[in-house]
Amino acid sequence: MIRQFNLTGLHCKLNGQAVMGQENSGTMRAAVCTAYGAPEVLQLTEVPVPIPGPHDVLIRVHASAVNSADWRLRRPDPWGVRLFLGLRKPRVKVLGGVFAGEVVATGTKVTRFRSGDRLFGSTLMRFGGYGEYVALPEKATMTTMPRGFSFNDAAALSFGYLTALHYLRKAKIAAGQSVLIVGASGSVGTAAVQLAVHFGAKVTGVSSKANLELVRSIGAARTLDYNSDEYAKDKTQYDVIVDTVGKVPWKDHLQRVKADGKLVLINPGTLRAMYLPLLQPFYKPRIVAGVGAEKRVDLEIIRDLAEQKKFRPVIDRTYPLVQIAEAHRYVEAGHKKGNVVVMVAGESNDSN
Ligand SMILES: NC(=O)c1ccc[n+]([C@@H]2O[C@H](COP(=O)([O-])OP(=O)(O)OC[C@H]3O[C@@H](n4cnc5c(N)ncnc54)[C@H](OP(=O)(O)O)[C@@H]3O)[C@@H](O)[C@H]2O)c1
Repeated sequence: MIRQFNLTGLHCKLNGQAVMGQENSGTMRAAVCTAYGAPEVLQLTEVPVPIPGPHDVLIRVHASAVNSADWRLRRPDPWGVRLFLGLRKPRVKVLGGVFAGEVVATGTKVTRFRSGDRLFGSTLMRFGGYGEYVALPEKATMTTMPRGFSFNDAAALSFGYLTALHYLRKAKIAAGQSVLIVGASGSVGTAAVQLAVHFGAKVTGVSSKANLELVRSIGAARTLDYNSDEYAKDKTQYDVIVDTVGKVPWKDHLQRVKADGKLVLINPGTLRAMYLPLLQPFYKPRIVAGVGAEKRVDLEIIRDLAEQKKFRPVIDRTYPLVQIAEAHRYVEAGHKKGNVVVMVAGESNDSN
């Protein structure tokens, strides 16, 4: 049931009705980031419901997720996060980089969405996925949920898939290519395996022994345990290598990429991401590194493919919002499989 709250003071349509006035919009439950640091800095409390502007939609967040970016911002890691999020403590109180939820109010200038629409996507620099309501511009990286998807499933569809799609496109992935995906069991890795397989590539997935079966189950033709001799001695020349973890020296990967191939480093470290492009003239394979873009058009592609049952996100664990610190601790340990979902406000998690 959608909670009734006063949206006066806004130029909004609430359930189709125009609303204007002067009062505030009430409070909501949210996990607030009180300082930088360990997962315990995330505390559940009541905060004001965000006030949507004329171009914003107000969304009741049913589910969010904890991704690598979320713990990195909280920690912060790298230190440079402080330059845009606040030097001494985070300026943004309610973190949460993704959401799946239902529109409950729209700004008067909003044309793309209306109350009742079920949306999912990225909260970008507004964050707010760990609160019961989030206000986002209608042009944000969000779109309608795939039919047949629950809020929990949809919350696992943004982060890894947007990143993987961005980098596979940069690598100009094509049918028939051989692709090595290192870190194939993580959020970005599982999405990269599924998307590369969808694009017709022959995928070899590298993971721990415990995750080999998972990586096979999502479409990898071949799997390699990163602790095995078979991986150490693998002499295959790949068209594309995608490293999502960054634990292998990038020059080692170069031994296994064809001269006209691509080496994609999704987690090269801040410094390396800056100097690698300068080294390109000295190496034949094209080296791709940097920060992935999150585009709405990509989210729509992902939504359509998910709706056509081309893939389903891998969900490792689901936590209620009250256990947000535990969810962050688990993800920060770096061993999750696919995605970790957080149930925020949803009394129901029924399918679309
Ligand atoms: N450049 C960008 O724009 C961008 C965007 C998104 C993410 N990232 C970065 O990409 C990285 C991965 O993100 P994620 O969300 O996919 O992480 P994640 O979900 O936490 O997954 C990491 C996975 O890697 C596996 N792993 C650990 N050591 C490994 C190794 N040596 N070889 C192969 N697999 C190994 C882990 O399982 P086991 O420990 O069980 O093996 C785990 O399943 C993060 O560091 C993140 O910051 C960058």
